[in-house]
Amino acid sequence: MSGSDGKTGATRRGFLKGALAAGAGAVSAGGAEAAGGDPAITELQPWMREFGPGVDASPYGVPSEHESHVRRRYVEWLRPDTISAVNFTPIHQLDGIITPNGLCFERHHSGVAQIDPARHRLMINGLVERPLVFTMEDLKRFPRENRIYFLECAANSGMEWRGPQLNGCQFTHGMIHNLMYTGIPLSHVLNEAGLKPGAKWLLAEGADAAAMTRSIPLEKALDDCMLAFAMNGEALRPEQGYPLRLVVPGWEGNMWIKWLRRIEVGDRPWHQREETSKYTDLLGDGRTRRFTFEMDAKSVITSPSPQAPITHGPGPTVITGIAWSGRGTIARVDVTLDGGINWQPARLSGPSFDKSMHRFYFEFDWDGRPMLLQSRAIDSTGYVQPTKDALRAVRGVSSGYHNNGIQTWAIDSDGRAENVEIT
Ligand code: CO
Repeated sequence: MSGSDGKTGATRRGFLKGALAAGAGAVSAGGAEAAGGDPAITELQPWMREFGPGVDASPYGVPSEHESHVRRRYVEWLRPDTISAVNFTPIHQLDGIITPNGLCFERHHSGVAQIDPARHRLMINGLVERPLVFTMEDLKRFPRENRIYFLECAANSGMEWRGPQLNGCQFTHGMIHNLMYTGIPLSHVLNEAGLKPGAKWLLAEGADAAAMTRSIPLEKALDDCMLAFAMNGEALRPEQGYPLRLVVPGWEGNMWIKWLRRIEVGDRPWHQREETSKYTDLLGDGRTRRFTFEMDAKSVITSPSPQAPITHGPGPTVITGIAWSGRGTIARVDVTLDGGINWQPARLSGPSFDKSMHRFYFEFDWDGRPMLLQSRAIDSTGYVQPTKDALRAVRGVSSGYHNNGIQTWAIDSDGRAENVEIT
């Protein structure tokens, strides 16, 4: 289908006019044209006339120059030179379920640790029979596993608690990525060290200058946590914890300690800064929710959205988006075009893995009238993604964390999208 940018659309319209005048126009409902007449197909293009760059022009491949707009972005008040620095995954420009390694959002608290893997160690101490220190080479001698998981920052959508603020799903929902991790089950090294009676919690510590530390229940550690050294088949990127990160499936991203250097085994949580003053949810009545680890089921329409408007006009239209749950798989996603009056099931496509991102599509014939688009995820436990008002009724408006409320995009008759809320 052509017409995805102004230039091509103009060309197509010009051709259509000519073709119809000649009485030869056969145009499908989707906007595709009958062959013949379009210079993009009838004329030799520059790239058809010359030998292109050779096989080794880019030893580490990069995307087409026409895709250079697909990039991580930050917002002005969370700039890279601040302690709250974060940049966001361009989810409005991606498809499928796997996030490319170079586009995974970044959040680190003292910059990216620049680690020489030959000098990196993982220490296991505390309530163990044998305190141990592993090199990276040691870790790679345990049996490996490959698993696909989403990682979502607890603060994803946090800036939207009080109302619509950021005009684009990259910023409202882009603190998420979904990757295939290669690594070893954490239980392997814990068993090697030997857990002592009374062991109930772990403290995971990073080697970055922030010494990021989080307490993790032993039950979770032995269930599905991993020590990962590869993402999507290659070594972790430095900003994702190279050479070793903890994977805590379905739980908030801050617990997935990057640049992992030490695991202490204990009998109770440590109450570190990152689980008391931060990553604790302030409720409306002044009390707090602590140790809110699991990420609830959530979804968002990524296209159309404010950064990805409808540019082709009325007719066949594809809505797409992502859904995920920290408690299992996504059983269903519903989509509404009218702000929640009528819901219809979307079509899930792609593998459905536990605690992984899912991709949905909804194809329909747009009549060109304004719409209020929403998606609603239902996970394998039966949990239904709530409205933002329902969340606020329980948690007030002071929390910056765990906002999994239903997102609304208002689409105008020109296909432009805006972040709004229905009240
Ligand atoms: Co939490």
